[in-house]
Amino acid sequence: MTQDDLKRQVAEAALKYVVEDAIVGVGSGSTVFMFIEFLSKIKNKIEGAVAASEASAERLKKHGIRVVDLNSVSELPVYVDGADEITEYLHMIKGGGGALTREKIVAAVAKTFVCICDSSKLVPVLGKFPLPLEVVPMARSHVGREMLRRKAQPVLRENFKTDNGNLILDCHGLTILDPAALEAELNNIAGVVTNGLFARRSADVLLLGSPDGVKTYKKKI
Ligand code: A5P
Repeated sequence: MTQDDLKRQVAEAALKYVVEDAIVGVGSGSTVFMFIEFLSKIKNKIEGAVAASEASAERLKKHGIRVVDLNSVSELPVYVDGADEITEYLHMIKGGGGALTREKIVAAVAKTFVCICDSSKLVPVLGKFPLPLEVVPMARSHVGREMLRRKAQPVLRENFKTDNGNLILDCHGLTILDPAALEAELNNIAGVVTNGLFARRSADVLLLGSPDGVKTYKKKI
């Protein structure tokens, strides 16, 4: 089975979490793009979708799915999104595609966060995947120095601007033993819009694609 087969498997499995006659939250990335294809097959059963990135909004529209502004939504039962790394506690690093801020906003509104990814994303400790920080351009050097002080190596993502017009610093070399504490700490650095740790609002359900089929993990309380 290829990695794409595993992604397709979980993308399809996520359909059973979609609530009929409601708006669904849609994240970003290649696994989510596959989810959008499956979602289009049941588009007449949903009210529409809120998208966490311009790319996903475009893809949803291309598939004839109505895209709704988050501000006009009072309830969002489910949000489906991928991850770059995830632990069995369903803490994640996200932002490989640079959409972390909007992803975090949509996740904050959703009642249930369903994470879909292939088994390569499940890790014992977060940090091997460089942690993305969305940074206001004038704060780039300041935030970079703050990260060096924390023993990380920040690398500016070349030729990249987020949907919000900001920069991404990918921070290498972190071993993240307390993701919720680091998430809060990094958000306090002036100029950081969002960091890619999703621990304070983790996923509720993980659908993990493996050669033995889809494995379901629920948040440990
Ligand atoms: C986008 O900013 C990320 O948070 C994605 O959720 C993440 O990169 C997963 O993408 P893939 O599904 O392409 O692995």
